[in-house]
Amino acid sequence: MNSSAAVAPPSGVAPARPWVIDGYNEAVVRKFVLATLFWAIVGMSIGLFIATELAFPLLNFGEYGNFGRLRPCHTTAVVIGFTGNALFASSLYVVQRTCRIGLFGGPRFANFVFWGFQLFLVLAIQGYLLGATKSKEYAEAEWYADLWLAIVWIAYAVIFIGTLVRRKEPHIYVANWFFLSYVIVVGVLWITNNMTLPIDLLSSKSYPVYAGVQDAMIQWWFGHNMVGFLLTAGVIGMMYYFLPKQAERPIYSYRLSIVHFWALIFLYIWAGPHHLQYTALPDWTQTLGVAFSIMLWIPSWGGMVNGIMTVSGVWDKLRTDPILRFLVVSVAFYGMATFEGPLLAIPAVNGLAHYTDWIIGHVHSGALGWVAFMVFGSFYHLVPRLWRQQLYSLKMVEWHFWLGSVGILLYITSMWISGITAGLMWKAYDSYGLLRYSFVDSVAAMHPFYVVRALGGGFYLAGVVLALTNFGLTIARANTRVAVAVAAE
Ligand code: HEM
Ligand code: HEM
Repeated sequence: MNSSAAVAPPSGVAPARPWVIDGYNEAVVRKFVLATLFWAIVGMSIGLFIATELAFPLLNFGEYGNFGRLRPCHTTAVVIGFTGNALFASSLYVVQRTCRIGLFGGPRFANFVFWGFQLFLVLAIQGYLLGATKSKEYAEAEWYADLWLAIVWIAYAVIFIGTLVRRKEPHIYVANWFFLSYVIVVGVLWITNNMTLPIDLLSSKSYPVYAGVQDAMIQWWFGHNMVGFLLTAGVIGMMYYFLPKQAERPIYSYRLSIVHFWALIFLYIWAGPHHLQYTALPDWTQTLGVAFSIMLWIPSWGGMVNGIMTVSGVWDKLRTDPILRFLVVSVAFYGMATFEGPLLAIPAVNGLAHYTDWIIGHVHSGALGWVAFMVFGSFYHLVPRLWRQQLYSLKMVEWHFWLGSVGILLYITSMWISGITAGLMWKAYDSYGLLRYSFVDSVAAMHPFYVVRALGGGFYLAGVVLALTNFGLTIARANTRVAVAVAAE
């Protein structure tokens, strides 16, 4: 089939201007899908490698292969590369279908965003390997890459918002509200936190314009809201489109979706200081962050309940449809991670958990369970529709689901035990008030759990390889037109 062919929207769209394409632009969505799969394998392979390095430090080969340089490669490849590309694919697909109009700006503009985004990822990651970093978590990329992404992101916002504005459907579907908040907030966060001054225009090194505790405050306002808007609001946007589609049920409560949207975006933006408890940040700011984090539990569970209840009436499908299972289990992990998050924000709990693997366990119950399961579940729905071809094998989806689930369980349970063990060891005193354990004792206690985590990562990655094979065979079959065609929606 001709992969660049535009598909006509269902009714009455007659664009007269050359920057508006005549129909849905699916070609760019397909490219973002393929890029997501590419960054999934790159990012998660590095994740598995660094997990193995932590278990077996001998694997820290030289300058380029050590944990310090590879860790930001992992986080950038999975958070921005994998999740980012998945959100580009799904937001640009969903906005066209639900607004019944093609993308604003035309195919060239959309292609600029696609290639521009991939260029950013390459610039950022090669920089880390060569030692160019701002040393701010999730914002490690140096100024030249940051500037480039700001331009690309603004172009993306123009496409998304332009399409919404030109919509042929009076109503803005709730998924688009979530996507819109993520597009706007991530752009604002990116530009504000990456305000730096390069030493000179030929140097890759720059310094932030903020200093001291203000720099820390801005950094964690950014860091926390990357979680809140990229890993959460954007992914909720996916949930609100793909879950009802796959379940063939309307959303449980449309009113709840709107109420929890406004509550979520209002509360998230204040919670950043929970990352800086017991630091030089003023006490009142820390308390504010904690209070908003605890309140966040409510709108988060509003979304979780709405997602899970959408399946009510068709629960039996969970037995037969592994794609729906991916989506529903993802929402359950969302419920779990957003129960754990407010708990971790309580100062007494944070005093135990901060700096330990408990945080890493929390991160990956969100990342592997919520984010990545939602992406794969949605793509199992989307790929057959984009390539007009039935999925190659549902059995492989089933296997992916179980490999992924076992992987997550091994990963998060080992990190919980490792984190709580280390936290308690660091706080144990003897009757003279001396520390009972040295730091090295705690490292030795954590070692077995690092091995189990690496094993969990191996299971998870094996599932991802299976998914890639399944998608690859589906697409290959589409190109040879062997099997049953699936109609566009
Ligand atoms: C095969 C799957 C994966 C493995 C084995 C893995 C492994 C790791 C390891 C070993 C670390 C460093 C932990 C440390 O510093 O102690 C890490 C950090 C991180 N990973 Fe993953 N990861 C995987 C998938 C993912 C995915 C899919 C995402 C996001 C969608 C993700 C997001 C993160 C984040 C945000 C951090 C930094 C956490 C923090 O600083 O608290 N990971 N990962
Ligand atoms: C109600 C929702 C949530 C709250 C209140 C919350 C709260 C927290 C807290 C208190 C920390 C520990 C900070 C520290 O001591 O270092 C944390 C870390 C983290 N959480 Fe959550 N969390 C929530 C949901 C999520 C979800 C759904 C994800 C999705 C992946 C997620 C990803 C992360 C990441 C990546 C970090 C590590 C940040 C870092 O230090 O690098 N959180 N969260």
